[in-house]
Amino acid sequence: MAKLYVNPNVKKGHINPELQGHFSEHLGRCIYEGIFVGENSHIPNVKGMRTDVVEALKEIHVPVLRWPGGCFADEYHWQEGIGPKESRKKMINTHWGGVVEDNSFGTHEFMELCEQLGCKTYINGNVGSGTVQEMSEWVEYMTFKGVSPMAELRKANGHEEPWKVDYFGVGNENWGCGGNMRPEYYGDLYRRYQTYVRNYDSKNPIFKIACGANVDDYHWTDKVLETTFDHGWGFMNGMSLHYYTIPTGNWNKKGLALDFDEKDWYRTLKAALKMDELIKGHGAIMDQYDPEKKIGMIVDEWGTWYDVEPGTNPGFLYQQNTMRDALVAGINLNLFNKHCDRVKMANIAQMVNVLQAVILTEGEKMVKTPTWHAFYMYQNHQDGELVESCVETVQAGLEKDYMVPNLTESVSVAKDGRIHVTMTNLCLTDSQEIQGYFADSTIKSVKGTVLTGDMRAHNTFENPNAVHTEDFTAVTAEGNRMTFTIPACSLLHLEVEI
Ligand code: AHR
Repeated sequence: MAKLYVNPNVKKGHINPELQGHFSEHLGRCIYEGIFVGENSHIPNVKGMRTDVVEALKEIHVPVLRWPGGCFADEYHWQEGIGPKESRKKMINTHWGGVVEDNSFGTHEFMELCEQLGCKTYINGNVGSGTVQEMSEWVEYMTFKGVSPMAELRKANGHEEPWKVDYFGVGNENWGCGGNMRPEYYGDLYRRYQTYVRNYDSKNPIFKIACGANVDDYHWTDKVLETTFDHGWGFMNGMSLHYYTIPTGNWNKKGLALDFDEKDWYRTLKAALKMDELIKGHGAIMDQYDPEKKIGMIVDEWGTWYDVEPGTNPGFLYQQNTMRDALVAGINLNLFNKHCDRVKMANIAQMVNVLQAVILTEGEKMVKTPTWHAFYMYQNHQDGELVESCVETVQAGLEKDYMVPNLTESVSVAKDGRIHVTMTNLCLTDSQEIQGYFADSTIKSVKGTVLTGDMRAHNTFENPNAVHTEDFTAVTAEGNRMTFTIPACSLLHLEVEI
């Protein structure tokens, strides 16, 4: 029997809904086909956005969407994606499959998508191959209400009112695909470019995000902050972190999404747990400059990255999604909650048809992946307050390099006072009986949902409901104590009323 301790009286921080954010890049079939099919498509759509996908995304309350990349962001020239579609420039998407990008999905379409989803907007600007003027004019085009060349252009293109840009990324992976820069050089560019990301709407200032590190490149974090920090708060609101879960840790042979064994299972989950170490490591450096934690850590790319599905375009990064991915999502979402004092947004890569997607499409068919179900269960934490909690764990797995703690958890209290517990059981063989104690409380009721199945269980276009959540009723409560058994290989959500 493992003990779970929850103290609802000790609040540890606000869980921004944005911790469950998403990312959509002009990559493979994410935007085109996956989200945007055009108004003339036979696939039901509203202003070109496929209805089935938008409805499925609304069910998980996507809080924020990042666009247009990714590596694509640093070669994207926004002016090519506005105005009459027939005269928009065509370009080659050199990063992703060398396909023709016809720019039919641009700024207006992105804003329309966010409006349909009811989510916040996160635009990633181009530092790698774009000018300061180009970035500055994009912000003017999107957010200026008065009379100016860019505001007039927006109006001429059919949008009288400015949009709200909630988040703006000043470059992406500028240590790599975004220009192969050194941190000091990027830091100086950040200072310059962000100057022209003007706050035209002073009541709604744009949250500016600097390009942060790749995985454990602590030197990058330190040097970018050293170069930029003398300007203090307002100059930089967030700094990104990118970390992908790769089963083998080897970019040349990452492993497959469906064809894997128990060893791969445990080493993948072990790799996912590394997110904790990275948040702490980068967080410790941020603390040196910003002890009050005013600058948010923005984990704007995370998720599993496997070798592409056999027979698919290697540049499209299409992969299937199993219970293993749902557990990776559960681990990460619990970790983001636990670190909500520093982590202010996280964006899974990517929303549809790319990497750890929540949705897969094929023609007019659509499936919700096990990762979608993880988000569905965890959405209860959005806008809650993290409360103090811990759980006893034992090591699960096979041998030295393939062992993980069996359980992860996080607990929050919602505005209506209900307590939400999310747990993962990473062990493939053993369920775990748990006794949960709630300090100074009497439990009135508990209900829950569970997601479980074979480690390779996944949803297909032929069998879209193979993996799905079920009601979890096997929980008893008395006084301040509840008892339940979390199945092997599962995610659990409990809603507790005290
Ligand atoms: O998500 C796929 C790619 O991974 C992004 O374009 C890039 O930022 C990262 O390397």
